[in-house]
Amino acid sequence: MHNEWTTRQGLMKKIALFMASGRPSGYSSQATRIIKEIASACASQIELVQINTYNTKVRHCSGCEICKDTGECVFNDDDMQKICKILEETDVAVISTPVYYSSAPGSLKAILDRTQPYFYHPLKNEPDKKIFYLIQFGGSRPYPAQFETIPQQMLHMARNLNGYIVAELSFPATDQWDGTLPAQVSSQIEEFARTLLQEPV
Ligand SMILES: Cc1cc2nc3c(=O)[nH]c(=O)nc-3n(C[C@H](O)[C@H](O)[C@H](O)COP(=O)(O)O)c2cc1C
Repeated sequence: MHNEWTTRQGLMKKIALFMASGRPSGYSSQATRIIKEIASACASQIELVQINTYNTKVRHCSGCEICKDTGECVFNDDDMQKICKILEETDVAVISTPVYYSSAPGSLKAILDRTQPYFYHPLKNEPDKKIFYLIQFGGSRPYPAQFETIPQQMLHMARNLNGYIVAELSFPATDQWDGTLPAQVSSQIEEFARTLLQEPV
């Protein structure tokens, strides 16, 4: 964990950017950068934090279910305490991720599994539910269910945090790309970012 909230005066909206690729210059990273650029040019006051999940140290949920009684995870010596604080405080979470074996990469799945305490002890952030956005990239040409699992997984995460997914973008066939987001894809992500930054919280 090396990123902190970037605070701007008079904050109105907190946005957490989860970047789930281990490739610092990959497509998920480029998508996250676009959102950051648009956020910094945005008139409204925004507080941003980026979490590169590949760089986080998060123990795997052991399924001990102690959190069912206590509301707390027995592990308290990794990055999850900091991530939980971010997840609790944020208004909006944007998850940019590659598809790995038709699912979320392990580092993102590890974080999802560790939100289990919230499954048993829901956050009470009604009516201001957290808003989740998802951008996913798959290398293969389109195939059935290529982009179905991650939204399902992230919906579990959103629900554990008393939130919901507002919108998702999915891009197949990135193996055909040259390392840079195609212009048309960048435009779509820019449009997506403008929409999500205008969304009232
Ligand atoms: C371990 C691994 C598993 C992958 N599994 C899939 C897959 O099941 N379906 C798919 O479409 N692409 C798969 N890919 C390709 C990545 O999703 C694709 O290269 C993606 O664009 C990488 O995103 P990034 O540039 O943000 O890292 C896999 C790549 C890796 C490294």
